[in-house]
Amino acid sequence: MADTLTITDNRTGKTYDLPIADGAIRAADLRQIKVAADDFGLMSYDPAFMNTASCRSAITYLDGDAGILRYRGYPIEQLAEQSTYLEVAYLLMHGELPNATQLAGWQHSVTTHTFVHEFLKRALEGYRYDAHPMGRLVAFLATLSTFYTDAKDIRDPDIRKQHAVRIIAKMPTIAAWAYRHSLGRPYVYPDNSLSYPGNFLAMMFQIAEPNYKPNPVLERALDVLFILHADHEQNCSTSAARGVGSAESDPYVSLAAASAALYGPLHGGANEAVLRMLRKIGNVKAIPAFIESVKKGEGKLMGFGHRVYKNYDPRAKVIKKLADDVFEVTGKNPLLEIALELEKIALSDDYFIKRKLYPNVDFYSGLIYQAMGFPMEMFPVLFAIPRASGWLSQWMEMLDDPEQKISRPRQIYTGSDARDYVPMSKR
Ligand code: ACO
Repeated sequence: MADTLTITDNRTGKTYDLPIADGAIRAADLRQIKVAADDFGLMSYDPAFMNTASCRSAITYLDGDAGILRYRGYPIEQLAEQSTYLEVAYLLMHGELPNATQLAGWQHSVTTHTFVHEFLKRALEGYRYDAHPMGRLVAFLATLSTFYTDAKDIRDPDIRKQHAVRIIAKMPTIAAWAYRHSLGRPYVYPDNSLSYPGNFLAMMFQIAEPNYKPNPVLERALDVLFILHADHEQNCSTSAARGVGSAESDPYVSLAAASAALYGPLHGGANEAVLRMLRKIGNVKAIPAFIESVKKGEGKLMGFGHRVYKNYDPRAKVIKKLADDVFEVTGKNPLLEIALELEKIALSDDYFIKRKLYPNVDFYSGLIYQAMGFPMEMFPVLFAIPRASGWLSQWMEMLDDPEQKISRPRQIYTGSDARDYVPMSKR
C-alpha cells in the first residue's frame, strides 16, 4: 500500500498523488493543484489550527482521546511522582534525564541566577499596586530584553542556553516581587539554600522569620504543580513563543508574547476564572441552575473542556490527589465541595458527555493555590513560572529545525474589490 493520497480536482479532471508522512500531507504540496498556470494553487483553510501540524516536535507527546501526556517519552504521572521540576526542566531542554553530576550542575546554574538587577525593583514602582501580576510579568519579560541585549544573538547555542537558565531562574523572583509590590511588602531576596519551589514560597510569604522554612508538603505540592504545567506541546502560548521566536526575536520578548497568550481566560487564566466561578455559584444548591445557564450558552463551565483532551486530563487526575495532601496541611478549601459536586453533575449530564467535556488542569489547581495562600491573580503566574521551561525548549527546537522559517499563515481575502478613494465631501 502506497503512502500517498490521490486527489482528483473535479474542476480540471486532473489527478495528483501527494505523499503522506507521519499521518500528514504537506499543505504546500496542494499548491500544485491549479486551474490555470497563473492560479496561486490550492490552499488548506484551517482557522484556529484545528487540524494543522505546525512543526515536528520531540518534546511532548499528547493523546487527547486516551488522556496520555508524556515529556520526552516519560509519563507525566511518573514524573509527578518521582521527579522534581528542575529535573523536568532539564529533561525538556536537553531531551534526556540528567545524571547526578549533570543535575547538580544544572541546579547550581539555575540557583546562581535567581537574583534580578536592582533596576527591576525600580521598574516595579511604575505599576499601580493593583496591577494584575500577569500584566507585570509580560512587561517584565520584555524589560529583561532591553537589559540583556546579547540575548539577541539567538543563533549562538551558548548564549541561548545562558539566557534560558536566566529566565527559568528569575521567573519566581519576578513573580514574587510583583506580588510583594502589590501588597506594599518589602521584597525578599532569593535564598539559594532553598529548593526552587521552596525559595519561591519564601520570596512570596516570608515576613520577619530570619530563616523561613517552607512546609515540606506544600513545597513538594508546588513542585508537582510545576512539573504538571511545564509543557503541553503546541498550545496557544507555546505557539505564540514559536511564532514570535520565528522572527528571530530574542527569548525574553518571545516569552513575553507567550505569557500574554497565557494571560487569557481561555488558556492560563482559566484557573483564576474557575475560582471566580465557584465563588459566584456560592453553594451546592445553586449548581443545577448554574449548569442550566451554561447549557443555554450563557457562560462556560470554566476548567472544563480542552482543544485536544476529549477524556479526563491526566494532569487533573494528579492534581485531584495532590489536593488531599495540601488540604491536610491547610484545611479544606470551602469551595472544594462545590467543585466536586459540579464535576459530578457535569460528568453525568448529556450536554457535557456528548461534547466530551472533562475537567482540565485548571479545574482543581486554583483550589490548591488558594489553600496555599496565593491570591487569585497569581494563579496564571503560577502557571507561567514552570511553563517557561516548556516555552524555551520549544523555542530552541524551532530555531534548530531546518524546516522552520518565519511564521506566516495565508488568508482567504473576503474584503472589497479594488475601489476608488471617496473624498470626504462625497461620503
Ligand atoms: N463549558 C460549556 N461548554 C463548553 C465548554 C465549557 N467549558 N467548552 C466547550 N464547550 C462547548 C462549546 O460551546 C461547543 O458547543 P457546541 O458544539 O454546541 O457549539 C463544544 O463544547 C465544543 O467546544 P469548542 O469551543 O469548539 O472547543 P475548543 O476546542 O475551541 O475550546 C476550550 C477549548 C477553549 C478550552 C474550551 O473548552 C473552553 O473555553 N473551556 C473553558 C476554559 C478553560 O477551562 N480553559 C483552560 C483550558 S486548559 C489550558 O489552557 C491550560
